[in-house]
Amino acid sequence: MSSATYKTFAIAGVGLIGRPILDALLARNASVVVLTRSPKEDTLPTGGKFATVDYNDVPGIAKVLKENHVDVLISTVGQEALGQQQINLADASKQAGVKLFIPSEFGVPTVGRKEGLFGYKTNLIDHLQKIGVPSFRIFTGWFTEGILELVGYETNKKVNVIGKGTAPISFTAIPDIAGYVAHVLTTQPPEKLENKIARLEGDRASLVDIAAFLKTDVEHVTELTGPSGPLITFLQRFLDTGAGSTGWDPLTDSEGAEKPGSGNALWEGHQWKRIVDVVKV
Ligand SMILES: NC(=O)c1ccc[n+]([C@@H]2O[C@H](COP(=O)([O-])OP(=O)(O)OC[C@H]3O[C@@H](n4cnc5c(N)ncnc54)[C@H](OP(=O)(O)O)[C@@H]3O)[C@@H](O)[C@H]2O)c1
Ligand SMILES: *[C@@H]1O[C@H](CO)[C@@H](O)[C@H](O)[C@H]1NC(C)=O
Repeated sequence: MSSATYKTFAIAGVGLIGRPILDALLARNASVVVLTRSPKEDTLPTGGKFATVDYNDVPGIAKVLKENHVDVLISTVGQEALGQQQINLADASKQAGVKLFIPSEFGVPTVGRKEGLFGYKTNLIDHLQKIGVPSFRIFTGWFTEGILELVGYETNKKVNVIGKGTAPISFTAIPDIAGYVAHVLTTQPPEKLENKIARLEGDRASLVDIAAFLKTDVEHVTELTGPSGPLITFLQRFLDTGAGSTGWDPLTDSEGAEKPGSGNALWEGHQWKRIVDVVKV
């Protein structure tokens, strides 16, 4: 490890994607502090430590970051916290001299998007640029583990498709995303990460391709049912435009110059999980 790499990390919110990132950093013996609204000690693995924070208290968060000499703030906060809370985390990072901010992206490319939760993600990047805190954005496409939910498989053991279902989607598995974050942050020099975008891809498939993987039929439907039905219906329409590829450029509504999976290169020699490695039915 070169002396120029980052040494100390803070993770804000350890949920679906934050927890595996925490474990991957600890597996590399990194020094990590977990920012949380309410610590649950029994859920913390050996080597990590909690700091209780109030996301409305910018100086309070900055104090925690300073005391722990945090080089990199990794935000993995959930959707309720993507707006003002992340702006406050950015301001606290600035005050504490944090060198790199990983925003809570971990999805489809959001560059320039203004709508809904995507708009919050864009506002954060604009804010980080304004206050002069470098960011490293990680686009992953859809989590491979979420495929069955995306196609409403459990409702009828079929791949339920709203539109044509032929647009390619990037899929990346959660352990690969976590391993990637830990790997690049503990091995790469700042100039490889600062104000860059990583476009990851473990596998690439359309909804119609997924039916073939699952050895089942495509069912063309007008909506998906169940508790997450309305959201998934909306997301499938969105993915049908091609926007689920990590190479997508929302500003031109087409594949951009940076290829899907181009970010994988920073984890040399890693074998990325394919859909068949993750999704078993
Ligand atoms: N590509 C995909 O398929 C996919 C799927 C899911 C999520 N994502 C993205 O991944 C990112 C992280 O999502 P996630 O699902 O990992 O997050 P999550 O599990 O919903 O939440 C992570 C943590 O955020 C913290 N938090 C802080 N303030 C909060 C607030 N006001 N309300 C709720 N939680 C708050 C909580 O920790 P404490 O309680 O300890 O404070 C929580 O454990 C998001 O940007 C999301 O869009 C992508
Ligand atoms: C982490 O530390 C343990 C105990 O000192 C050591 O056995 C292990 O090899 C270290 N792992 C890495 C990835 O450096």
